[in-house]
Amino acid sequence: MPSQLPIGCFDSGFGGLTVVKEIMRQLPQENLIYLGDNNRYPYGSRPPEEVRAFTFEIMDFLVRQGVKMIIMGCNTATAVCLPEARQRYKMPVLGVITPGSRAAITATRSGRIGVIGTEVTIRSDAYARELQRINPRLEVFSKACPPFVHIVETDEVEAPLTMEVVQDYLQVFHDQRVDTLILGCTHYPLLQHVIARVMGNQVQLINSAEETAREANTVLSERGLLNESNPAPYYHYVTTGTVDHFRTIGSKWIGQPLTVRRVDLGDSESQATAG
Ligand code: DGL
Repeated sequence: MPSQLPIGCFDSGFGGLTVVKEIMRQLPQENLIYLGDNNRYPYGSRPPEEVRAFTFEIMDFLVRQGVKMIIMGCNTATAVCLPEARQRYKMPVLGVITPGSRAAITATRSGRIGVIGTEVTIRSDAYARELQRINPRLEVFSKACPPFVHIVETDEVEAPLTMEVVQDYLQVFHDQRVDTLILGCTHYPLLQHVIARVMGNQVQLINSAEETAREANTVLSERGLLNESNPAPYYHYVTTGTVDHFRTIGSKWIGQPLTVRRVDLGDSESQATAG
């Protein structure tokens, strides 16, 4: 039954786990395969052409695993190649930028919205375009925060310097008087408590995961692909980095022990044994 096939989700590393967590919560009957390209993060400071090549390598891998839908749990990949991915694959492909924009528009009262993301995402202007397509009167202030991804990947969220770095990058949004800040990189919700302390409780933080999972639910249900009976859903995690590192940090973020295996993308031998 196609409905019993897993959902595929990926990111450059741990960031997409924020989307996985929300899928587990909203769609507890779904099976899932997650790929973290931890060996090649960060995507956000690479040339878009390279991000595109990595993205399609991963999506081809997920298709070979027999997924029924792919969620790009990565803003950078979404910004670079969502429309092309939708043409390339027959199955539904979801990104995180439209859901995040919708959530921000619902949240803002002043119409002044901040966006933080990787250099590639911010340079692409994908959020500002999407927000202003929906409501041209919105004022959008964007800023790339390159060190944030590394802080999450190396498990330094609680390190003493982290608060200072976050403060430095986000100070500008106080001056711009935004009332809503989009966490436009899936790694950033893993730093959410630090960002919240810096921004204060007048500013609403938007994590696109919740709205993305809602959209997954709608699309699966429209296509008759919702898994409606699955007493024992499985979650398989694949990393291009080291299994131990992924298991340790991933288990902490997901809140339960993970089953992880390694794959070398681009290496035909390990691809042949990966399935
Ligand atoms: N988590 C990713 C995103 O949402 C990419 C982070 C990176 O590797 O730079 O953009």
